[in-house]
Amino acid sequence: MNVNLIQLQSHGDERGALVSLEQSLNIPFQIKRVYYVFNTKESVTRGFHAHKELKQLAIAVKGSCRFLLDDGKEKVDVLLDNPAQGLMIDSFIWREMTDFSEDCVLLVLADAYYDENDYIRDYDKFLGLISDE
Ligand code: TYD
Repeated sequence: MNVNLIQLQSHGDERGALVSLEQSLNIPFQIKRVYYVFNTKESVTRGFHAHKELKQLAIAVKGSCRFLLDDGKEKVDVLLDNPAQGLMIDSFIWREMTDFSEDCVLLVLADAYYDENDYIRDYDKFLGLISDE
């Protein structure tokens, strides 16, 4: 399974660093929604779902966390610890997030509004839908 880590240009100088996210330029989709996960408690895991349609890009803008991505055939473990790196998560990818650092701020860009009907929250159902493809 391919891990699509997008390298974002960091404009750094003696004052600090800046990364710009531009729809359809360095972000390969229309950005309809942005959300961020923070204040994550120690040893929690999040995610545990896939999406039927949604595409997302996750960036650890501060701190670090781990993504387990699973396409139903293969699982990969990705450490996000660089604010100039975005992890693409396509539809029909099961994700679990772990190992949040205390200071982690996980920014997520999405190509659609929040829609609970787009979620697949049952792993066996996910595997069933994948094998129907
Ligand atoms: P949840 O999907 O459980 O988060 P995670 O995938 O990180 O484990 O979402 C947590 C809550 O936030 C849940 O009640 C749904 C709500 N939510 C929104 O209202 N809008 C959103 O864009 C997202 C991602 C979640």
